[in-house]
Amino acid sequence: MQVADQVTRTLRRPLLALAENDRVEGLMRRNGVSKGLVRRFVAGEDLDTAIAAVRSLADQSITSTLDLLGENVETPDAARAAVAAYVVILDHLAAAGLEPNISVKLTMVGLDAGPDVARVNMVPILERAREVGGFVRIDMEGSAYTEVTVAITEALHDRFPDQVGTVIQSYLRRSADDIERMIRRGARVRLVKGAYAEPAEIAFTDRREVDESYRRLMLRLLDAGAYPALATHDADLIAAARHYTAERGITPDRYEFQMLYGVRREMQRSLVEAGYRMRVYVPYGTEWYPYFTRRIAERPANALFVLRQLVSR
Ligand code: FDA
Repeated sequence: MQVADQVTRTLRRPLLALAENDRVEGLMRRNGVSKGLVRRFVAGEDLDTAIAAVRSLADQSITSTLDLLGENVETPDAARAAVAAYVVILDHLAAAGLEPNISVKLTMVGLDAGPDVARVNMVPILERAREVGGFVRIDMEGSAYTEVTVAITEALHDRFPDQVGTVIQSYLRRSADDIERMIRRGARVRLVKGAYAEPAEIAFTDRREVDESYRRLMLRLLDAGAYPALATHDADLIAAARHYTAERGITPDRYEFQMLYGVRREMQRSLVEAGYRMRVYVPYGTEWYPYFTRRIAERPANALFVLRQLVSR
């Protein structure tokens, strides 16, 4: 396990750098490198396939949050197209009798053009979510966007208190304060460890510190948060949550576990069988490359598999 951790730490930064490398992306796409592995983490390229995946999870009593892959759009038209696509997704989920729950990245709806652009673009998505009884989670991106994402969530939460929440990353040193900001206003938090490469001045870089921070923030959310989402595949942290909630009489309908599509599927099922709520993050679309690279960077076995495929070509 220690060797695996060391390999992950060593490979993580270079692999995350690849997420921004157009040439490597072209190579991966052209050669269809690791197509099977992409399929494991990404539900498909179109909405119908993604909805079929959501339905299949629902058949196993697992709820979903749908993510249309894409980030850092470069034009107002692309941002508007993403907004329209998200409204369609909410409609299709509702029409299919599935819970309309989506995850949105603010850079997909124009954040790079300015905070007001992204905030205004979120409004039609949230209005539709309200109409269909849905929920919109604002994903958390790299640290350049943390403050603006928290601030936009606050502004939107004033207007849409039941429709919007965000994500807090335990690897960031600032996160205890952000959790308190969300607790004060009763906004829902999804707690994650964090998936980007961040500098030591602002982030814990030691794995144990990240895990310890996760544990602290998790317990705080379980005590005082609004329906927290504990998004992790870490068996120790999940056991700690189960232990803490059982001890305090916090019933399983007051929070949920979340995991990524294709990761630890058996654990997803066994938690449901044990009576816990489980939601799976289901990404789909053609813009899978940065998301896929982040998943690869998280686990040495995945990374080594991809490297072997690249070298053998
Ligand atoms: P950790 O990385 O320690 O993994 C624990 C164990 O889980 C590993 O030992 C391995 O067995 C298994 N595992 C983890 N990742 C795997 C993978 N890719 N393939 C196979 N096995 C794997 N991040 C972010 O910065 N912003 C966000 O908005 C989100 N949103 C989000 C939603 C949901 C529902 C989840 C589950 C996660 C995110 N994340 C995220 C990603 C998160 O920050 C983190 O990178 C991953 O969840 C991996 O961290 P773990 O907590 O699972 O622990």
